Amino acid sequence: MVEVGQRFNTFYFAIKDKNYELANYQWDKIKKTIENGIVRRPARKANSQTMFLETQYKSMREALNKKDEKLIKKEYEQTKGVCNACHVAERVPFIEVIDPIIRWSSVR
Ligand code: HEC
Repeated sequence: MVEVGQRFNTFYFAIKDKNYELANYQWDKIKKTIENGIVRRPARKANSQTMFLETQYKSMREALNKKDEKLIKKEYEQTKGVCNACHVAERVPFIEVIDPIIRWSSVR
């Protein structure tokens, strides 16, 4: 999840920069990281699939592929909501995903 958080930072600023290829790349890595997380923590499989992999992952990716700015913004907000909904569901409601304030990454 630490990796998801780091990639989410680059993902957020890639959207801001309208570098949708980079956003797509990070989005895919976020998906793979969550998939790998299931291997280590099988109890989280159900929520990973229903809340993220089979739903939000796909609609966000579709918006990025379309390069539709308005839709991407809407999906981004929805993504944040899904991250936080899963934190509530997995009993870590005190971990709140917010819009990143500073750029962490040395790439853009
Ligand atoms: C399957 C449910 C689930 C989804 C979906 C999910 N998370 Fe998490 N997240 C967790 C759980 C459980 C923890 C606490 C335990 C851990 O770190 O593995 C956590 C912890 C975190 C942490 C803290 C890591 C640390 O230890 O400092 C970050 C950052 C994070 N999530 C970001 C995100 C972001 C961003 C998204 C959305 C793109 C997201 N998470 C989606 C379940 C989820």
